[in-house]
Amino acid sequence: MHSTSRIVIALALLGAFGFHAHAEVTFITFYGYVLPILEKNCQVCHRMKGANLGGMIAPMALTTYEEARPWAKAIATNVASRKMPPWSAAPEEHGLFVNERTLTQAEIDTLVAWAETGAVRGDPADAPPAKAWPAAADWLIGEPDLILRPDAPYVVEDAATDVYAYLKTTMTDVILPVDRVIRAIEIRPGSSAVHHIVAPPLGALTPGNDPTLYPDGVGVLLKRGQDITWQMHYHKEPGPGTGVRDESSAAIRFYPPGAQVKYLVQGNDLGRYDFVIPPGDASYAITAEFTFDHDSQIVSFMPHFHLRGKSALYEAVYPDGTRETLLSVPRYDFNWQSTYQYKDFKKVPKGTKVVYTALWDNSPANPFNPDSSQTVRWGEPTTDEMSYGYLSFIDESGEQESFFDDANGKNGVNFVILVALSDKNRDGKMSEVESPAEMLGFFHVVDANGDGFIDMNEARTATQTMRVGPAKQR
Ligand code: HEC
Repeated sequence: MHSTSRIVIALALLGAFGFHAHAEVTFITFYGYVLPILEKNCQVCHRMKGANLGGMIAPMALTTYEEARPWAKAIATNVASRKMPPWSAAPEEHGLFVNERTLTQAEIDTLVAWAETGAVRGDPADAPPAKAWPAAADWLIGEPDLILRPDAPYVVEDAATDVYAYLKTTMTDVILPVDRVIRAIEIRPGSSAVHHIVAPPLGALTPGNDPTLYPDGVGVLLKRGQDITWQMHYHKEPGPGTGVRDESSAAIRFYPPGAQVKYLVQGNDLGRYDFVIPPGDASYAITAEFTFDHDSQIVSFMPHFHLRGKSALYEAVYPDGTRETLLSVPRYDFNWQSTYQYKDFKKVPKGTKVVYTALWDNSPANPFNPDSSQTVRWGEPTTDEMSYGYLSFIDESGEQESFFDDANGKNGVNFVILVALSDKNRDGKMSEVESPAEMLGFFHVVDANGDGFIDMNEARTATQTMRVGPAKQR
């Protein structure tokens, strides 16, 4: 698989066969060549249990020769096939994102050559200085100013496999006496049962995701008194003794109080809830759009769907009609959901439209498909689907909104999600019987055509226009 131009030869052979000078001889030793690559590209996940990236546990550490040697062959196959390090953006987007995890062809060749020539140790004196990783209890973002946790730990029962829980942190004045601007966030799962966490405006923890660090002058507003909802997805094998008491947390570093923070990051989820994927369909696509009101800068993307998700595409359609691919994820992998954060934020003029295209493979050819005979709709279990094209950006006009203002509507209620969650009989709309108690008072208002059902169109309109209860704090 490899194509190295170097002549690779183990040290012991040199003396024995008397090679000399005119051949360019490179010894691919662990200390001289392999360890620097592992430090730079692998150890963020592959180090002692529990101390790795966001707590997502890679099966083995790759910090010493003794640890790496038994994995030499597996390392070679995994890097040659580009399975490791995990990164799903198309090659054309190489170099755009701060958290890109890819190896150069030369690095791949080196790791493969090392494995193929006996995985020799070499001289420890050649080793680069050991990379200092924070201890298990420490945070990658450094000393946090605040650690947030849900109000109470959550118990995942022994019998559970997939659990979706909505937990809350009540933002008391003791926790946050004044509005602050977040500079860095690291979300850490409290147990190995955590598959992913989405907690706007803190962000998301998904397998493979890194902590978020914003550049100078950019941050996310954390508002006094604004409770945080943690959408938790727990996933584990069921069975006696497998239950856990999970207490996940998020560490936050703020800008100093009163610091001049030029831009606040806001978000939109480009969510769709009204898709119906036919059984067996190998490429079913839908789109969602978002238009910038002002000149803006795109900060990051995060496509999210479930097991049948196949590919994701973000495109910009500029006011003059030209189209540009921003991010293409040609082979979406549910196990590796990255946030793609721009190194240099992507400037887009006012009126630019982002078009997000989600494409599913509900055919038997999709190895992750749990059942290709099903019609698939929006739902929380991984065997149903979701479609989010998360997008975060800064608005150059300085118009500051709360993080998910657009998606969550004028009053923080997203009726579209409410309908999707309440639609027990799966007919794509919410009847009065299905509607949650707190909704009954204004069911008829949202049901604009008075047919006794709230359909997705009515829900969307209500989300965008209705103000119920007290106006959201600004
Ligand atoms: C973002 C975290 C992350 C990074 C970065 C990463 N890995 Fe992994 N790696 C994992 C996890 C988690 C697994 C186990 C799950 C899986 O196989 O997908 C894994 C699996 C592997 C395996 C397969 C182990 C087996 O059981 O066969 C090898 C080999 C490997 N990684 C090598 C590497 C190398 C070499 C690098 C760097 C070039 C690297 N990984 C970078 C997280 C990571």
